[in-house]
This record gives sequence, structure tokens and C-alpha cells, in this order.
Amino acid sequence: MRKNIVAGNWKMNKTFSEGLALATELNAALADSSLNCDVVIGTPFIHLASVAAAIDTTKIGVAAQNCADHESGAYTGEISASMVKSTGAEYVILGHSERRAYYGETAAKLKVKTELALKNGLTPIFCIGEVLEERESGVFFDVVKSQIVDSLFELSAEDFSKIVLAYEPVWAIGTGKTASAAQAQEIHAFIRKTLVDKYGKEIADNTSILYGGSCNAANAKELFSNPDVDGGLIGGASLKVADFKAIIDAF
Ligand code: 13P
Repeated sequence: MRKNIVAGNWKMNKTFSEGLALATELNAALADSSLNCDVVIGTPFIHLASVAAAIDTTKIGVAAQNCADHESGAYTGEISASMVKSTGAEYVILGHSERRAYYGETAAKLKVKTELALKNGLTPIFCIGEVLEERESGVFFDVVKSQIVDSLFELSAEDFSKIVLAYEPVWAIGTGKTASAAQAQEIHAFIRKTLVDKYGKEIADNTSILYGGSCNAANAKELFSNPDVDGGLIGGASLKVADFKAIIDAF
């Protein structure tokens, strides 16, 4: 059966020493608890190797927030999937709406990044989600479906079964405006149905679909109690151990 996952996305926050301290503090806070979900932290690239070395990675997985769309070579400033993997990270967040909106990441580019992540043994946490106008005009089902189809549906069933999806409505990210539990369940069920139609029930049932967007200690339990919401991708509330742990404890 699919895993429940609480994943933090630190975004562009925390200096190296601050990030190491945050990861170490989280590691200590979780050391004695038996967890009912997988826990992942998505750090900036420069933190990955040191964070992975400082924590119990059997308990807390480490994620990059992006990787390059090329294997290696003359791509100044880029970080490849194999480099990410070599740090001890096991996951990579791909297709975050901030990367799509601010860095021009197209469906085609994300398809390549996903393939390279898988080829290098990373688990992609693949983000999808509509903007406010798309929600209000009702086209959000089509938007989300296209994001999945255009980047992921040429994967083999075996490769697709390694993907974690994160539904993050852009209007809920960093706004304090969370999707209601009913809104989350509705679209998560739609996403799972989309997967059933392409890959069959078993793979769809085994795919973790996370919710992201102003998820916090106060609303996590209600969101996670939905049958098709398998955890969260957490931005702001992943930057403080107490807040993040409270979300983990919602499971
Ligand atoms: P917030 O939890 O800060 O709204 O961010 C969500 C997000 O974008 C996680 O990837």
C-alpha cells in the first residue's frame, strides 16, 4: 500500500549553518518517536551532503529542490541528478510552481528532469497544481491532468511507480489560504482516477499523492484524513522543528 509522507520544502531559506542546525534539531526531535509516515526534508543544494551525513537517513530522507535537465557537461551553475544522488539525497522535488513560473520550466523540460532523476536512483516528488484563475474558471481538473500527462505519462509503469506526486494549488502556497479538506480530496481523487486510467488500479493505489499549500499543524490532520491525501509538502511550516513535527504527528 502507498506510503504516507510529510516532506518539507525549505525553498531558498537558511544559511548553511542554520540549515545544518535545523536538520540536526529535527533529527533529535524524531529520534525517540516511532513515526507513522515517512519524513523528508528538501534543502538547498549546498546543504544536502552535510545534512545527509548529520541525520539518520533511515528516518529522514533528504531531497533536492531541483536538478538539471542534462546529465553532465558545460551547463554552468547547474546541478545534475547524479550529483544530487552522490550527496546521500534520495529524493528530488521537481516541477514546483515556483520553478515553473519563475524559471521557465516547461512540461518538456520536467519530463527530461524526471527521467534523469529516475535513471540516477532518485525519487521524484513531482509537483502539479493550478493558479487561482484556473481554479475559479473550473479548468483546474484539465490543467492538473495535462501537467501529469505531459511530463509523466511516457514513463514505463515500472518507472511511474517510483513517482510521488504533490498537488499544490498555487493560490494556497505561502498565502495562508489552504484548500479545504473537501477541495483537496476532490482533486486528489481525480488525480488518482487519472492514474488508474493510464497505469491501472494497483499502481494508482500505490502512488502517494501529497497536498501542499499553507499546510500547518492546525489543518494537517483534517487534510490527511482524506482517503486520497497521503501526506503533505510543507513550505513555511517546515522551517521550525516544532511546527514540522506537529504536522508529522498528525499521522
Ligand atoms: P507553504 O507551506 O509555505 O504554503 O508552501 C507550500 C509549498 O510550496 C511546498 O512546496
